[in-house]
Amino acid sequence: MLILKTKEKLAMKNLVVFGGAGFIGTNICKLALSRGYRVYAFDSLMRPGVEENLAFLKQLKGFHFIWGDIRNSSDFQNLPEKIDGLINVAANPSIPKSFLNPRHDFECNVIGHLNILDYAREHGGIPLIFASTMKVYTDSINLLPLKENKTRLLLKEKKYRFGFDEKTDIDGVDGFTNSPYGVSKFAADKYSREYAKHYGVPVVINRMSCIYGLYQKGVADQGWLDWFVRAKKYGYPLTIFGSGKQVRDCLFGTDLAELYLLQMEKINQYSGKVFNVGGGPEEGFNTSLLEIIAHLNKNYPGPQLKLTFADWRPSDQRVYISDIRKVKKATGWKPKTDIAKGVQQIWQSLP
Ligand SMILES: NC(=O)c1ccc[n+]([C@@H]2O[C@H](COP(=O)([O-])OP(=O)(O)OC[C@H]3O[C@@H](n4cnc5c(N)ncnc54)[C@H](O)[C@@H]3O)[C@@H](O)[C@H]2O)c1
Repeated sequence: MLILKTKEKLAMKNLVVFGGAGFIGTNICKLALSRGYRVYAFDSLMRPGVEENLAFLKQLKGFHFIWGDIRNSSDFQNLPEKIDGLINVAANPSIPKSFLNPRHDFECNVIGHLNILDYAREHGGIPLIFASTMKVYTDSINLLPLKENKTRLLLKEKKYRFGFDEKTDIDGVDGFTNSPYGVSKFAADKYSREYAKHYGVPVVINRMSCIYGLYQKGVADQGWLDWFVRAKKYGYPLTIFGSGKQVRDCLFGTDLAELYLLQMEKINQYSGKVFNVGGGPEEGFNTSLLEIIAHLNKNYPGPQLKLTFADWRPSDQRVYISDIRKVKKATGWKPKTDIAKGVQQIWQSLP
């Protein structure tokens, strides 16, 4: 009996999730634990509110927490000896913060990620999944001709009916920009592919659009959909930057977690690959700000949302929907939870 138990333990996989106490990290840790992984969340708890996620995770069997900062590779000495997979979702995820303090953004998002890549390389090529972003694509897509209806902007050209693919403009020659956040994420995205090719570290890169869901600590600066639901529930005023007709595709956290684990299980098939990941162009998986505001006002109790309009945010793409055909074809994965259902789950989870 004792021998069997030891064998079982040996077969368990050890997964390290950098940023494991954050929104996406918590969704990944929770799912991985339910699949029998032994999970180590490494986090500096820099994001306010994530200690609540940590308290929840600590109740789950097989969960371990390591306090540390990815900017300091010496903090990695506390990682377990045997590691089967690494996931990096630790970062500064806020675009406005990256404008205020680009050096902090660079140190977390580039140096921190490089430290993880080096760790993976120095330990025999540990598989790694990296959370990149659609913000690696420049605002040159705002040059595309648009039409508009009462609630949203629409791209005129038919060729974008599936959304933007992985070959969308990154360079921004002649005056187009990304935001410091987009630049730091692209550096890490590119370093990941260099490490896959030159140092044999199996790496997958997911360029994600709006991810929302349970355990998100949405604020006006970051995590907008979760923030809108909170604003409706608690009567906070909302500032809309631009006309409110800007469009995003949205993916629920549990659907994203499914994808990460699926990729980890078959990492050698996907190594070095870049995927656009989001809700995609299907109805119910993308929305304008005005549309989701109308949805919240119509379907949830309490006073109507109080709106103030301000100027567009710098480098913000007016319409962005991920073309997810590549990731769907490669992995067989697809988003399951539409925005109405996802929002309902958030509403019910808020006290
Ligand atoms: N949420 C989205 O819509 C979205 C979209 C595209 C990409 N991403 C990327 O996904 C990742 C996770 O985003 P999230 O929404 O879960 O953010 P989050 O802020 O909820 O989680 C990030 C976690 O990383 C931790 N962290 C930050 N800096 C750290 C450091 N230097 N060392 C150790 N831990 C640190 C934070 O404390 C937090 O727990 C980020 O890389 C973000 O850029 C998020």
